[in-house]
Amino acid sequence: MLVGRTPRYRRLLDDFPVFPIVDLWTDTGISGFADKKVYVVQTNPRVVQRCILMTTDPGDLVLDPTCGSGTTAHVAEQWGRRWITIDTSRVALALARARIMGARYPYYLLADSRDGQIKEAILARRVPSEKPTNNDIRQGFVYERVPHITLKSIANNAEIDVIWEKFQETLEPLRQQLNNALGAAYEEWEIPRDAEDAWSGEVRGIHANWWKQRIARQKEIDASIAAKSDYEFLYDKPYEDNKKARVAGPFSVESLSPHRLLGVDEHDELIENAAEQQLGYGDKQDFAAMILENLKTSGVQQAHKEDHIAFSSIRPWPGDFVCAEGTYVEGNTDSGPRKRAGIFIGPEFGTVSRPDLVSAVREAADADFDVLITCAFNYDAHASEFNKLGRVPVLKARMNADLHMADDLKNTGKGNLFVIFGEPDIGILDAEDDQIQVRVNGVDVFHPNTGEIRSDGADGIACWFIDTDYNEESFFVRHAYFLGANDPYKALKTTLKAEINQEAWETLHSDISRPFDKPSSGRIAVKVINHLGDEVMKVFRV
Ligand SMILES: C[S@@+](CC[C@H](N)C(=O)[O-])C[C@H]1O[C@@H](n2cnc3c(N)ncnc32)[C@H](O)[C@@H]1O
Repeated sequence: MLVGRTPRYRRLLDDFPVFPIVDLWTDTGISGFADKKVYVVQTNPRVVQRCILMTTDPGDLVLDPTCGSGTTAHVAEQWGRRWITIDTSRVALALARARIMGARYPYYLLADSRDGQIKEAILARRVPSEKPTNNDIRQGFVYERVPHITLKSIANNAEIDVIWEKFQETLEPLRQQLNNALGAAYEEWEIPRDAEDAWSGEVRGIHANWWKQRIARQKEIDASIAAKSDYEFLYDKPYEDNKKARVAGPFSVESLSPHRLLGVDEHDELIENAAEQQLGYGDKQDFAAMILENLKTSGVQQAHKEDHIAFSSIRPWPGDFVCAEGTYVEGNTDSGPRKRAGIFIGPEFGTVSRPDLVSAVREAADADFDVLITCAFNYDAHASEFNKLGRVPVLKARMNADLHMADDLKNTGKGNLFVIFGEPDIGILDAEDDQIQVRVNGVDVFHPNTGEIRSDGADGIACWFIDTDYNEESFFVRHAYFLGANDPYKALKTTLKAEINQEAWETLHSDISRPFDKPSSGRIAVKVINHLGDEVMKVFRV
């Protein structure tokens, strides 16, 4: 820096070797070498990363209500933030789930750990702290840092004098020897950088040695200045422990809440129909009519193609719950017997509960229907256990979320809009030491050709999860098993390379669970997911 024409001090490029980030982020554009997108509107992770690092600390909670492929959750997971993400699309949630499950993350050194204390001490050139550590992520990571060198920090650095004194002990005798040998009187700053041709080998040796020590002194002083000056943390560059591999922590995926709304008056009496009206039954004639039209064109699909139910007619039916009568021919032939199905349509927004199904199937039995077909976006946990009343089977079809926008869809009959996912057939087995195991035997499927319900092996199941201590509110995946023909954890296996225990890995690919203790809550829940992403949950008392 100049004052007039007089140099006052020199500022080197590496006195402060970083630039602050400003509000134009030209470095976050997507390069041609970036990872391939899994979602067409996927956000560049660098942008999300910068936002998260600027606004949160490790351990904070990040909410992204438009999940898409889960970039926010993925980045939050990487940086030790907790996260919640929401989407209306099952496709988005399935992509996000797979992306997070298959990811491998770096392990960053925690400030509140012994390894972190040691690293911090090395960086600041002091003895490690002896404070007890708790591995609390909220204390942050150990970050790379860059010096911010000022005249003040150099002036206040007492270590420079110590280094100086230490080197004087070797530099001074060497200077004396050089002066004696040359008959000169060089001060330190007068010693030439290069040896002269006329000097003897011995003098050259003393000269070279002096310069070696002189450079070493400067390096040590520079390092001390850097270590003792102010510095800026690089919050996007924590130190990694390369010996540890990290995968995503446990998370749960939840669908629409199964809570029913009940209306009560001032005497706590239930107001009839209030619940149904709130949930969108009753007054939504247009919705039911639209659903019936789509049902007529697409029919109902089950796990196997041959078990498709195609309606020859669908007519309105004046019931309280059953709103239409559908006819189909058993065996899908011209000559087969004609069967009558009562049709119940769930609410446009909300979940179908077990009492709704019971009332609907009673009505269907009274009207002598052969089967009740219910169509809904979601069933609550207890509804999914209900399959039959007397001789009348209940086929629960899940409606595709695309039907929410059916007005904008072409009614082409293509795509599985109504899919029945049969009831999972699950056994609870006693294991040693008073533990239990769960086995999935398959899925019960209704065969419209014969009118029978038969268990259909485990082929239709893509994966199944157990909450070994179900609290009746949220399902926590405490065990996960994958039955798909291709190892669905392949992505994670590839990511982790050789660092997996083959034997433990094999147990993930099984229709029988590992043994576990009976829970104190007395309840476990089993969630079974098919290849289309439909899921059913069953709760068991154990
Ligand atoms: C632009 S994408 C988000 C992309 C995401 N940041 C990523 O990196 O993949 C917007 C998402 O919001 C979802 N969405 C639209 N309306 C919504 C709503 N009302 N509630 C929740 N999600 C919604 C869409 O399904 C879509 O997946």
